[in-house]
Order: sequence, then structure tokens, then C-alpha cells
Amino acid sequence: MNRNYNHALQQIEGVVSGESDLIANLSNIAAILKELEGYFWVGFYLVKEGELVVGPFQGPVACSRIAKGKGVCGAAWAEKRTILVENVHDFPGHIACSPLSQSEIVVPISDSTGEVAMVLDVDSSSVGDFGENDQVALEKLAKMITKLISV
Ligand code: SME
Repeated sequence: MNRNYNHALQQIEGVVSGESDLIANLSNIAAILKELEGYFWVGFYLVKEGELVVGPFQGPVACSRIAKGKGVCGAAWAEKRTILVENVHDFPGHIACSPLSQSEIVVPISDSTGEVAMVLDVDSSSVGDFGENDQVALEKLAKMITKLISV
């Protein structure tokens, strides 16, 4: 799907400017992104004591913890790169929080030292719903969040 992220990214900039609380900002970012077409689940997993722990999200109930290297989220963290999954059934070790999730994109978000501090996970209930356009926009958002957590 060729989504237009301009409005969402502008809205996010407006909402986070002047607010320093990370949880407040991540919550509003998840709410804004959830309005995008096809976004079935969107949220953050935060690195805490060597694991990913679910943070602010919008959508159905999700797994609370994910180990490094496990699932798409754990792989994006371990490999420090965005992972696009066309069909979750083809990804070995995919963690199915909802049977309705069919495709997924996970973007790692680093702190100012370059260490992964969290990942942004987006799931769709359609196969092959994410592409380069989503990757470019969400990586731009990841850089904005890096700045937020570096102040
Ligand atoms: N599918 C993810 C787990 C998180 S949920 O989809 C919300 C994964 O394999 O890492």
C-alpha cells in the first residue's frame, strides 16, 4: 500500500514538541500512526534489562516480553536493522501475538550512543502490506525519536 506519511509525521512533530515525557510521546505517536490505513497493531517494545518489554501501543493485546534475537522484533534489535516481513508465516520464529497479523515491519530505534533503545513494530492483517515507502517514513520517525531520547 502506498501510504502518505506527511500528515502523520507533521502531527507527531507537533505533539512531541514541548513534551519531554517519553511514555506520553510514544503513546501519542502510536495513536497517530494507528490512524493510517491498514495499521492493525502499532507500538513500541522497549529494551529493559536485556529483553524487549511491550510499551505504548494501539491494537489488540500483545506479548509482554521478547528475547533478543527472537521473532521479528528480537531480530531487528539483534541485527540493528529494519526488517520487512511480506508474510509472517514465512518468517522462521515469528511470534504470533494475533492470528490476524499477516505482514509486519519492525524498525530499531537507537539512543545517542547508537545502542538500540526500543523497536517500533507495525502489523497488518493483509499479506505484503509494507514496502520501501513505509520503511523510509518509519526510519525518519525513528531518527526523530532518537533525538527525543537524547535530550
Ligand atoms: N510479531 C512480533 C511480535 C510482536 S506482535 O506482533 C505485537 C515478532 O515476531 O516479533
